[in-house]
Amino acid sequence: MTRILGIESSCDETALAVVEDGPRVAVNLVASQIDIHAEFGGVVPEIASRQHMRVISQLTQSAVESADGQIDAVAVTNGPGLMGSLLVGVNFAKALAYSWRVPLVPVHHIEGHIYSAFLNDGGPPAFPALALIVSGGHTQLIQCDAPHEYRILGSTRDDAVGESFDKVARLLELSYPGGPSIQRCAEDGDPEAIRFPRAFEKTDTLEFSYSGLKTAVLYELRKNPDRSRNDVAASFQNAAVDILLIKTKLALRQTNAPRLIVAGGVAANSLLRKRLESEIDVPLLLPTLEYCGDNAAMIAAAGHSRLERNLVGGLNTTPNSGLAL
Ligand SMILES: Nc1ncnc2c1ncn2[C@@H]1O[C@H](COP(=O)(O)OP(=O)(O)OP(=O)(O)O)[C@@H](O)[C@H]1O
Ligand SMILES: [Mg+2]
Repeated sequence: MTRILGIESSCDETALAVVEDGPRVAVNLVASQIDIHAEFGGVVPEIASRQHMRVISQLTQSAVESADGQIDAVAVTNGPGLMGSLLVGVNFAKALAYSWRVPLVPVHHIEGHIYSAFLNDGGPPAFPALALIVSGGHTQLIQCDAPHEYRILGSTRDDAVGESFDKVARLLELSYPGGPSIQRCAEDGDPEAIRFPRAFEKTDTLEFSYSGLKTAVLYELRKNPDRSRNDVAASFQNAAVDILLIKTKLALRQTNAPRLIVAGGVAANSLLRKRLESEIDVPLLLPTLEYCGDNAAMIAAAGHSRLERNLVGGLNTTPNSGLAL
């Protein structure tokens, strides 16, 4: 059995996990900083790195103790993300790998999200695949030809889809993070009440843009201040999800990919999951809700696959806040 310790600290979650033989999660611990950043309406980088420092030792000890056995490698997110936050995780991982004399495996955060679809009952990693990554910092369609071979087919030109949920939630005076609060508010609203724009809807591009949608919500609220908040939330969510479906179907037609992976924080959205399940006709790989947001099990799972191929790092590994996939 191969047991990998995963460490994720790229943004506002300090996460530690142990996975066995790739996908089986033995321990998964996430210390979220959401409550600490909530009063600022977004993540404050300096506060985030200090908080990682505060909790990482204790979390590591808990993870290793509950896994109860030898750790064979340490996998860590080395980018992209907030530099101060990444530095905490990477340096901690280097110290552990050095003292335990085990390999250090640097993992790209988005590769981690891709591997979240294969955890536990998700089945063994299966490629080729098309991946739709929808999170707070990314909106990307990625062609995955083979393990660790990626081609980015389209990205957002401005805001990420999760970021647009967060910004629109602020306009609607809903709590942070915006995704879950907009989803809740939308349950009592009419998704057809307002026709918000879907960027690049009628073109062949696989690019996304979400800043126009956010601005359209702002103008709608200025023009009709008495408009039902539930209708605005439902109509926004409808437009935000609709364009994801439109572009994903286009990418599936263009690539003939035999399976679709959808991952990242926004993959927890119930409307998105429902529409994917009913409208996509290739096998769909969706992480369970607990592995949509940032976690270290996904980093350890990607690390396991890298370790099998000897794609390991050394003690000269450094974090890179703008790391390319
Ligand atoms: N149910 C939901 N519906 C829509 N969005 C959601 C939902 N739950 C969470 N989100 C959004 O997911 C985002 C957080 O996801 P995640 O933690 O994967 O992003 P991140 O790690 O900050 O960004 P990245 O992975 O790009 O670095 C937030 O923008 C949040 O609003
Ligand atoms: Mg993430």
